[in-house]
Amino acid sequence: MPERSAAVLEVRNLHYLWKTPEGATRTLFDGLSFQLPPGEKAVLLGANGCGKSTLLKLLNGLLPASQGSIRWRTEAITPEALQTRELARRFRRDCVLLFQHPEAMLFNPSVSDEIAYGPRLLGLDKVPARVARWAAALGLEALLTLPPFQLSGGEKQKVALASLLVLEPGLLLLDEPTASLDPRTSGWLVDTLLDSPQTALITTHNLSLAAELGSRALVLGEGGRLLFDGPLPQALADLELLERAGLAHRHRHRHGGPAHCHLHSHLHGHDWDPAA
Ligand SMILES: Nc1ncnc2c1ncn2[C@@H]1O[C@H](COP(=O)(O)OP(=O)(O)OP(=O)(O)O)[C@@H](O)[C@H]1O
Ligand SMILES: [Mg+2]
Repeated sequence: MPERSAAVLEVRNLHYLWKTPEGATRTLFDGLSFQLPPGEKAVLLGANGCGKSTLLKLLNGLLPASQGSIRWRTEAITPEALQTRELARRFRRDCVLLFQHPEAMLFNPSVSDEIAYGPRLLGLDKVPARVARWAAALGLEALLTLPPFQLSGGEKQKVALASLLVLEPGLLLLDEPTASLDPRTSGWLVDTLLDSPQTALITTHNLSLAAELGSRALVLGEGGRLLFDGPLPQALADLELLERAGLAHRHRHRHGGPAHCHLHSHLHGHDWDPAA
């Protein structure tokens, strides 16, 4: 009998609390629960400060949940659990986090060393061939001997991506992966993701690109409250939801005709009509 496929990631009743310098307690994710089945590509949407990056860091075991649980395949993931070398090794190979600001990830003397760092640390074989393959995939061959800090913003983002994809992980947590990528590289990433069996949770403010990145949307509102979990096209067509989540707003503008009000996406401007 075929086995029921377990979720790659399961979040249950998640709360994250922190204290302000004045001693007040703030809460994000008022009991957030969701699952990612194998191979699903989900897009995490929400306005600035709603908790997207914090959620990805919790899921990657970098921050401790104040309440609730995070399970990766069959294992409970917490920063303490990841002190166990054996679990950390398996988890760090399978579940990778692309930081919103790739500079935070780049610390090796050369691009080549940067991409090789994870495979070397994890003792993978054929490291030079793996580096060559992912450098070529992202068009980084000419940059391999340069120090990462000398690169452009988009080049740094490509190096950060290559240094994660080289591990051939099963679960990708990507925080604004296309923020500084040119259209061709963004397109490459979309194609690569959609063609792969990997499970992915991806944040973006670019609603036009979001439509291509996955099939499911998780929309967070203020305080990381889950406003929507369902089919991505349904979320993108729901102007009331997008407005409530701070992802679209009514604004006045004057191009040609009289000033008027309409909705437009946060970054994409007027060439995208969410109702289309
Ligand atoms: N430990 C903490 N101490 C203070 N503030 C925190 C802490 N953790 C999270 N926050 C606050 O929680 C909010 C969520 O931040 P987060 O970076 O997750 O937002 P985001 O959804 O990724 O936003 P953006 O779209 O701007 O990237 C922010 O207001 C942040 O300052
Ligand atoms: Mg963020």
